[in-house]
Amino acid sequence: MRSSIRTRLLAAFLAVAITSAVGLSAYFLSELESYGLRKLEDRLNSESLVMAGMVAAQLEAGGETSLPEDEAEALASELARVGPKISSHIRILDSSGKALVDSGDESGVGAQYAETPEVASALAGQRGAATRITEDGRVALYVANPIVVDGHVAGVAYTAATTFSIRTLLRDYRLRLGGAIVLFVLLTTLLTELLSRWLTAPLLDLARTASAFAGGDHSVRVRPRGSSEVKALAQAFNNMAEEVQTVMVELKEEESRKSRFVSDVSHELRTPLTAIRGAAETLLDGDVPEDDARQFLSTIARESERLSRLANDLLTLQRIEGATGELPFSRIDLLETARRAAEGLAPLTESRGVQVVIVGSAPPVLGNKDRIQQVLGNLIDNASRLTPENGVVTIALSAEDRHSVIRVLDEGPGISDADIPHVFDRFYRSQVSRDRSSGGAGLGLPIVAAIVRSLGGTVTAARREVGGSVFTIRLPSAGS
Ligand SMILES: Nc1ncnc2c1ncn2[C@@H]1O[C@H](COP(=O)(O)OP(=O)(O)OP(=O)(O)O)[C@@H](O)[C@H]1O
Ligand SMILES: [Mg+2]
Repeated sequence: MRSSIRTRLLAAFLAVAITSAVGLSAYFLSELESYGLRKLEDRLNSESLVMAGMVAAQLEAGGETSLPEDEAEALASELARVGPKISSHIRILDSSGKALVDSGDESGVGAQYAETPEVASALAGQRGAATRITEDGRVALYVANPIVVDGHVAGVAYTAATTFSIRTLLRDYRLRLGGAIVLFVLLTTLLTELLSRWLTAPLLDLARTASAFAGGDHSVRVRPRGSSEVKALAQAFNNMAEEVQTVMVELKEEESRKSRFVSDVSHELRTPLTAIRGAAETLLDGDVPEDDARQFLSTIARESERLSRLANDLLTLQRIEGATGELPFSRIDLLETARRAAEGLAPLTESRGVQVVIVGSAPPVLGNKDRIQQVLGNLIDNASRLTPENGVVTIALSAEDRHSVIRVLDEGPGISDADIPHVFDRFYRSQVSRDRSSGGAGLGLPIVAAIVRSLGGTVTAARREVGGSVFTIRLPSAGS
């Protein structure tokens, strides 16, 4: 699962979460810090301005450039009183930058501050301010305002305050950031888990179903769910599965048709071959009376003929079904073709004592003359074989609805309802035909059906009301 959707989502989301947590924290903390510093500077400035005002008034009243001793002491004690209450450090400097009063510490009195840039600027008559880092890492802010008497700088009101420790700030900042990141990571992992489950569950479903399908269960389908893309994928899979299943069913049917065909052919071959072998072996044994020998030889001849007919019929079927359009098409006069077919079978029909009559007429059709003659020959053969002696087989031609129709009617036993759906199957013979042990292999009608289909027509079988059967062939008439 190294490059699973979940891992990728998690990596992407964590990257976004951590970057934004760090970035936002840094931004807000620096904003907060500069805001705090600005506020502090404002406060220090107001305090030093107030101080400067107060001291200037006293200096004016005293008329001296330096603060009188008692004034300084009073101010110092006042500052010492309020000093602990306010967080600022207040000093009053004289015009040389030396501390006269210090709110923090008595020992600070007399210290020299003229060197600091903020005091230097105040001594020059300009407000001065500075931020410095103290030795213990604290941020210290300094504001110095000039005390102006009679247009001269008589002293400096100097205020200072330390802010929070930068180190403390950084530690605090890291802790908070760490907490935020841990929270973000947890939340992101949870959300990613939920999201990836929602995304991958239908995909895993699909994968499982596809495996089952590949494993041979073609009935499995997926329930389309999840995002629309995944749904579309599931739908596409289902459609494909449907198609494959249909094709598989067809293939299986085709497969079983083929194996049935092969076993039917073997079966058909066995009967004549057994007869031939039996006759041949008897003859080989010798000592067979002349009459019997002739009998055996004629069996061999008859059965061999049956075998070659079977081979021919199978070849014909193969050619018609295997390749389309291999024969040149021409306009066929059906009346003439029917006559030829009847004439060709005359020796057979006459030997059966059956008369073949042709009535009506039909428009020409497009096709191959020999094939159509074969169709009629097979139908006349069947009809005359089943019609009793002195009966009539009728070939009726007509035109119906832009089709040329040929009907072959006989006076035989007719076809039972059970046989009708099967008479065009290969090797099918009805009970009647099998009982009489007459007729051939059951390939005549399949050949008829294959030829008619190849010409774009249809053939159907039915029972006549007056008795006997009727085979109806409809072929598209050739336009004039
Ligand atoms: N005119 C008909 N009346 C009644 N049954 C028929 C008729 N024609 C065909 N059948 C039935 O249909 C079966 C199949 O006919 P088909 O022509 O395919 O085979 P066959 O005549 O038995 O053998 P083959 O034509 O290969 O020599 C026949 O055995 C018969 O049972
Ligand atoms: Mg036949």
